[in-house]
Amino acid sequence: MQNRKVVLTGDRPTGPLHLGHYVGSLANRVLLQDTYLQYVMLADVQALTDNFDDPEKVRQQVLEVALDYLAVGIDPQKSIIFIQSMIPEIAELTIFYLNLVTVNRLKRNPTVKTEIAQKGFGESLTAGFLMYPVSQAADITIVKAQLVPVGEDQLPMIEQTNEITRKFNTLYQADVFPEVSALIPKVARLVGTDGKAKMSKSLGNAIYLSDDADTVVKKVMAMYTDPNHIKISDPGKVEGNPVFMFLDAFDPDIAKVQELKDHYARGGLGDVVLKKYLAQVLNTFLEPIRVRRRDFARDKGEVMRIVRAGTMATREIAGKTMQEVKEAMKIAYW
Ligand code: TRP
Repeated sequence: MQNRKVVLTGDRPTGPLHLGHYVGSLANRVLLQDTYLQYVMLADVQALTDNFDDPEKVRQQVLEVALDYLAVGIDPQKSIIFIQSMIPEIAELTIFYLNLVTVNRLKRNPTVKTEIAQKGFGESLTAGFLMYPVSQAADITIVKAQLVPVGEDQLPMIEQTNEITRKFNTLYQADVFPEVSALIPKVARLVGTDGKAKMSKSLGNAIYLSDDADTVVKKVMAMYTDPNHIKISDPGKVEGNPVFMFLDAFDPDIAKVQELKDHYARGGLGDVVLKKYLAQVLNTFLEPIRVRRRDFARDKGEVMRIVRAGTMATREIAGKTMQEVKEAMKIAYW
C-alpha cells in the first residue's frame, strides 16, 4: 500500500466532461487506479480563477464532474476523489511557492499565455489567474505525486511544478518533493466535431459523457468530414477526417475501421452510412457510462459522502506534507 507510486490529476469543474477528457486523461486514470495510489481532484479553486463572479456554477459542477468520474469507472474503493477548496494546505503551500517563481516566468507559461489570449483578459488579467500554475504545483505536490495523467496541453504545468520543487529542495536543503512526470496518452488530444484541433466546451464542438443517444446521433450526423467528398462515388480523405479519428479512438474493432478507411479512400462509401456507424460505436461506448451515471445520480447524498471521505483522507496527507515543508523552511515553531 504505502510504497505505491502516487498519482494526482484533476479537472476544473466548469462543465460536463466530454470525449476529449476521456481520451486525454480519464481512460488512463481508470487504468492507473489498479496499480497506483491515485488522487482525483475537483479543481474548484482553479475553476474560480476565471469564474469568481459565479461560484454557484462552480459549486453545481463539482457534483456533476464527480458524477462523471464515478460514471466513467473511477472507483472510490481504489481512487481518492476530493475537493480542492476543502484542502487549505494547498493554499498555504501555494503562498510559499509563489516566492520561488518570477512573474516573468508565469507570463511565459505557454498554457496560461494561450488562455490569456483566448479569454481576452487584457488589463483585467487577475493575479489569481496568472499564478494558477503555482497553485497547480501545490495540488500535485501536497500529496507528493510522481505521476500526472493529463493531455499534452498540461505539459508546461508539470515543467513548472518541477522547477518550483527543485528550487524548494535546493534552497531549503531538504528532499521533500519527488520529481513528477506527465503521463500523456497515445492520442493526446481529440479533435472537435467541427474538425478543429481540440474538443472543448467553449468551442461548442464537444460530445459529452452525459449526452443521451439521440444527442450523440445528432452531433455525429452534423460532424465535419472531407469537404471535397461530395458524391458517394468520390474518393474521400481519411487523414485528418475527424470521423476516422473518433473511430480510431473508440472502435475496438480495428479491422473494421481499416476496412472502412480503405473503402472511403477508394470511393463508394457515403458520409451518412459512415456517420451512422460512428454514432453506433459511440453510443455503445457511452451506454454503460450513462447507466452508471444514472445509478449514482439517484443518490446524490452518497456521492457527496464519497467526495467527503476522499477529502478527509487527502487532508491528512496534506497536513503531513505541510509539516515537512515548514520543518525544511525552519518555520515549524512548535
Ligand atoms: N489545469 C487542469 C485543467 O485545466 C486542472 C488541474 C488543476 C489539474 N490542478 C491539477 C490537472 C493538477 C492535473 C493536476 O484541466
